[in-house]
Amino acid sequence: MRVLGIETTCDESAASVVRLREEGGGDILSNEVMSQIADHAAFGGVVPEIAARAHVEVIDRLVERALDRAKMRLDQLDGIAAAAGPGLVGGVMVGLTTGKALALALRKPLVAVNHLEGHALTARLTDGVPFPYLLLLVSGGHTQLIAVRGIGDYRRLGTTVDDAVGEAFDKTAKLLGLPYPGGPSVERAAEAGDPVRFTLPRPMLGRAKPDFSLSGLKTAVRLEAERAAPLTSRDVCDLCASFQAAVVDVLIDRTRAALRQFRDVAGRPSAIVVAGGVASNLSVRSAFVRFAGESGIRLVLPPPVLCTDNGAMIAWAGIERLQLGLVDDLTAPPRPRWPLDPEAERAPGGRA
Ligand code: KG4
Ligand code: ZN
Repeated sequence: MRVLGIETTCDESAASVVRLREEGGGDILSNEVMSQIADHAAFGGVVPEIAARAHVEVIDRLVERALDRAKMRLDQLDGIAAAAGPGLVGGVMVGLTTGKALALALRKPLVAVNHLEGHALTARLTDGVPFPYLLLLVSGGHTQLIAVRGIGDYRRLGTTVDDAVGEAFDKTAKLLGLPYPGGPSVERAAEAGDPVRFTLPRPMLGRAKPDFSLSGLKTAVRLEAERAAPLTSRDVCDLCASFQAAVVDVLIDRTRAALRQFRDVAGRPSAIVVAGGVASNLSVRSAFVRFAGESGIRLVLPPPVLCTDNGAMIAWAGIERLQLGLVDDLTAPPRPRWPLDPEAERAPGGRA
C-alpha cells in the first residue's frame, strides 16, 4: 500500500509518499517540506493569511516533487491522505482541497487526517510500536499526555491549562529578542548557557493529575530578564538554559504522573513516545532517554524531521486508516478544532 500525504495546517507545506512495509511500519519514499519561516519571520509569528497564500503557491510543485523523488506516478498510489485540521483553516483548505481534487480525478480513496493523529502515530511508522502506548505530544499549539489505545481511540490524561510548550519557547525567544521560530533559537542559545544561574519555577510539579501550566514560567523569565537588563548575550544564553532546564523537569515530572494513571485507562504501556516540534529538542530527548532508562520502559523518539510538521506522518495515518477501511468522502470539512479525545474536551475545564 502506497499513500500520498499532504500537510498544510500551519506554516510548513509538505508532501510525502509512504509505503506500508510487510513486517509492519513504513518506508518513507519521499518527504518534501517547504517551510514558510522567512515569510513570517518579520511578524514574529505565523500570520494565517500569509500562510494560506504561501501554501497555494507551492502545493502543486511539492506534490510533484514528492512523486518524483518516490519514483512514482499518481496512478500507482493506493490513496490520498490530507490533513483536515486542527489548524489554520485557510491553510487546511488548501491541502484538503488538493487532496480531494486528486482523489476525485484519480478515483482513489481519500483520508481526511487529524494532524494530531499524524503526530501520535509517527512512532508506528518509524518503529512499529504496538498499542497501547503513552504519548507526550508537545508542539506549538498542543501539549498533551495521551493514552493511545488504537486508531481513533485516544484518552487524554492531561493537557496544559494555558500555553503550549512550543508556544512558551516561542514567547521566551521573542521576549529575549531571539529570532522566530523560538524553539530552535532558544535551544541554540541554551547550549552556551548556565542552566542553574536563574531560579525559575517548575509549575505543577508533583501534582497527581498530569496537567501543565507554562505561562507562569514565561512570566518568570520576563521578570528575571527585566531585573538583569540590559541583557548581555551571556545573560540571554543563561536565561535560555535555565528556561529549558525548567521545561525539561516539568515534562519528565508530568510524564511520570501520566504513567501512574495510564494503567487505569489502558493497561500496560508498550512504550513512551514523545512527538511534536518540541520533541526535536536535544535536551528534551536526552532527559527522556535517562528517564526511560531509570524507569525500565521502552522509549521511542521519532527522528527530529519527523517530530516537526511533515507529510510522512499524514501519509502514514492515511495508511493506518485505509487498512481499517476508514475512508472519507468529498464532503469532509476542514476543522480548525479537532481534539483527539472529544470526551476530555467536553469535561469541565477540559478545553485548553
Ligand atoms: O509540531 P510543530 O512543527 O507544529 C505544530 O503543530 O505546532 O511544532 C512547532 C513548535 C514551535 O513552537 C517550535 O518553536 C517548537 O515546536 N520547536 C522547538 C524546537 N523545534 C521546534 N522547541 C524547542 N526546541 C526545538 N529544537
Ligand atoms: Zn504539528
